[in-house]
Amino acid sequence: MSSFKQFQQEKVRQIELALNNHLPGSHIEPKRLHDAMRYSTLNGGKRIRAMLVYATGHVLELPSSILDSVACSIELIHAYSLIHDDLPSMDDDNLRRGKPSCHKAFDEATAILAGDALLTLAFNALAKADCSAAQKVNCIQLLSQASGSRGMVGGQAIDLANEGQAVSIADIENMHLHKTGALICACITLVVGLKFQPTDAQYIRLKHYAECVGLAFQVQDDILDETSSTEALGKTQGKDKQAEKSTYPALLGLKASKQLTEDLYIDAIEQLSSFDEHADYLRDIAQFSISRLA
Ligand code: IPE
Ligand code: IPE
Ligand code: MG
Ligand code: MG
Ligand code: MG
Repeated sequence: MSSFKQFQQEKVRQIELALNNHLPGSHIEPKRLHDAMRYSTLNGGKRIRAMLVYATGHVLELPSSILDSVACSIELIHAYSLIHDDLPSMDDDNLRRGKPSCHKAFDEATAILAGDALLTLAFNALAKADCSAAQKVNCIQLLSQASGSRGMVGGQAIDLANEGQAVSIADIENMHLHKTGALICACITLVVGLKFQPTDAQYIRLKHYAECVGLAFQVQDDILDETSSTEALGKTQGKDKQAEKSTYPALLGLKASKQLTEDLYIDAIEQLSSFDEHADYLRDIAQFSISRLA
């Protein structure tokens, strides 16, 4: 097995354990709400955001207890974003990670509340992190910015407003950098911010790497919506076209979209040129982001 495959398996186990410990048990009232939160968080997923956290921590040689808290907080926000993204008022998707979406397995009100509760639980994970008060405040500030109206939520608003509209490439790039890029970027900035200032060269390079990976990840998501299958994706294939979403393949075609992911990959790798082999997992994640089949 390749060392990246091994890293992936180990980190998936690590994040699942950390999430399981942080989520309220299903026996705790209100049980249906806690069930829905656990259903939507502990149900597979590639865990690329957690992997980015651990891989960045590996570069900076940071202790895994802090990384668990950061990875948990971001995977919780991500799980909430997917629950709300699937709601009838948003993408109206009935399938997520190969199983009925939260609002199908439970009901719409429970899905909205489970999302709300995961969002707040994410900040609880940071508040309890094993680091200094100043480091916690910095993490909370960065994550709230990345996930709110000037980050992921803002991007989701743009995504809905763009449905059926003729938009430019710059508009799509802006939408993707917000709805997906911001949270992926937070995986790196929360960790790098534990050791470096935003003006430090390492911080700037790693952040630029993250921006490239975040954008490439969503372009690949758009490509897979056209080219993959519902079975492989675990979510309904072809939904973007059906909803007249503004995507790279819709505007540029598949070939140019694929080329863009490769250009972004090269840019991401370039940012790591001054880092030694400790950054190999980050290099592997950049490759995985654009070559993944689901
Ligand atoms: C899906 O994210 C939503 C996007 C931002 C593209 P992922 O593809 O990371 O979903 P999981 O966590 O692996 O299910
Ligand atoms: C979702 O983008 C981005 C989020 C912030 C959840 P998509 O709507 O393309 O994600 P999928 O394809 O449903 O996973
Ligand atoms: Mg969406
Ligand atoms: Mg969607
Ligand atoms: Mg999609």
